[in-house]
Amino acid sequence: MSAILQLENVTAGYSADIDILRGLNLKVERGSVTGLIGLNGAGKSTVMKSVFGFLRPRIGHVFYNGREITASSPHDLAAKGLWLIPQDGGLFDHMSVETNLRLPIETRRAAAGISRAEIDRRVGDVMQQFPILREKRRQLATRLSGGQRKLLEFAIAHVQRPTLCLIDEPSIGLAPKVAEEVFAHISTLAKTGTSILLVDHNIRKVIEVASYVYVLTLGTVSAEGESSAFRTDLHGQVKEWLGINY
Ligand SMILES: Nc1ncnc2c1ncn2[C@@H]1O[C@H](COP(=O)(O)OP(=O)(O)OP(=O)(O)O)[C@@H](O)[C@H]1O
Ligand SMILES: [Mg+2]
Repeated sequence: MSAILQLENVTAGYSADIDILRGLNLKVERGSVTGLIGLNGAGKSTVMKSVFGFLRPRIGHVFYNGREITASSPHDLAAKGLWLIPQDGGLFDHMSVETNLRLPIETRRAAAGISRAEIDRRVGDVMQQFPILREKRRQLATRLSGGQRKLLEFAIAHVQRPTLCLIDEPSIGLAPKVAEEVFAHISTLAKTGTSILLVDHNIRKVIEVASYVYVLTLGTVSAEGESSAFRTDLHGQVKEWLGINY
């Protein structure tokens, strides 16, 4: 079974003279949740941006479903079944909740061969799944709370039915109860067959939902393994991985 996503020797950065990712190798197996953890500034979001076409790797290759997608545009990648829930949010603030739900899929409706009826059905489904969004469907996204905004981003992802979803720091800044809800939506996405690359600062949660975890240090993989192998001594393992001595 080939990996759904594979990064091979990826080197990338925001300016010509500074590499943020340095020869990075990483895989997401089909149907799995794969975790990516690391200290602030390690390059986790840069990995997501390099896969989703916001940043062009200087060296190396990105493969999706066995085909090279290095430096493809986000629009083309969405059409191929990739989706990104970014760390800093990706909503249209001055559009309604319902427009935010519909717009991304409607812009690629014809290319993706999805009927209007199918879009209505999917939007109806997520309105059921996220009652708060149904209640607020006519409100502007800017009027939602931080937790509701994150739920809207998950609802948008559900409407896409992605094959691979990149999820960057979904629980950051959320109250514990909302964070739990967000992780439940990650599990739901995974159960519907979506492969997931998950970054979160809540390492315990990442290890709980992911089957395999990579540790990123200064733009390169410093450790990796099956998450089951270190659930027993998480504290010691993570300290060692991250090079923390205290
Ligand atoms: N747009 C940008 N322009 C220049 N440098 C950037 C840009 N975005 C990130 N960087 C730099 O790249 C490095 C990695 O940043 P990145 O956001 O990938 O880290 P991260 O692991 O996601 O951190 P965090 O846990 O804080 O989200 C940092 O040194 C950061 O300052
Ligand atoms: Mg980040």
